[in-house]
Amino acid sequence: MQRNPRDLVRYTASERANHWIVGICFILLALSGLAFFHPAFFWLTNLFGGGPWTRILHPYVGVVMGLFFVIMACRFAKLNVVESRDIEWLKNVNKMIDGDDHDMPEQGKYNGGQKLLFWGLVIGMLLIVITGFVMWRAWWTLPVNVVRAATLVHAVAAVWMIGLIILHVYAAIWTRGTIRAMLYGTVTRAWAKQHHRGWYRKVTGDND
Ligand code: HEM
Repeated sequence: MQRNPRDLVRYTASERANHWIVGICFILLALSGLAFFHPAFFWLTNLFGGGPWTRILHPYVGVVMGLFFVIMACRFAKLNVVESRDIEWLKNVNKMIDGDDHDMPEQGKYNGGQKLLFWGLVIGMLLIVITGFVMWRAWWTLPVNVVRAATLVHAVAAVWMIGLIILHVYAAIWTRGTIRAMLYGTVTRAWAKQHHRGWYRKVTGDND
């Protein structure tokens, strides 16, 4: 891709690699998890070498996703602390969705919606990983009622996470110029000024 030297760096290579390891694991887990969820999706096990292999691999991929998510969440947590300007942004979110975003409150590196999504992912990830460990009978056997309760919470957390990620990907595609931030690490000045003016001012020193 043709780079403009005036573009702004939004993610380092290591942050991007971290994000995509989590993203790829998430897709593998969603596909294999759906295969366990309902017989209509059992054919998805063909992607992983059949039923037994899918059953063996799913929790190990879950451990990799959990570990890399913890690293990613530690990197981004500080930037996702909700401030009063984010609450104002969230109150005006309908205007944003209608495409009338010219007088939205100024945002830092992330807007109120991204921050809510971040904490929603943290909660979902905690629930899904903890219950996943409880259910991992290849390594330990806990009382059957505990495993049953964990199975239910695991399924609810999975639906919650898949919903949030659909929203996340939709927002990333819908806000033109965003996907390249996670692919190549940079965004245009115009993108930063329009969507994250506070961050734009901070990194450029431009008070425009
Ligand atoms: C698989 C498809 C995915 C795509 C296309 C995608 C795309 C993106 C893009 C373009 C950004 C940059 C947004 C910006 O800088 O404003 C981003 C940020 C981020 N993504 Fe994803 N992502 C995907 C999956 C995931 C998954 C599975 C997770 C976690 C479970 C995740 C967590 C995050 C986080 C935490 C950020 C930083 C934003 C923040 O901290 O609020 N992403 N993603």
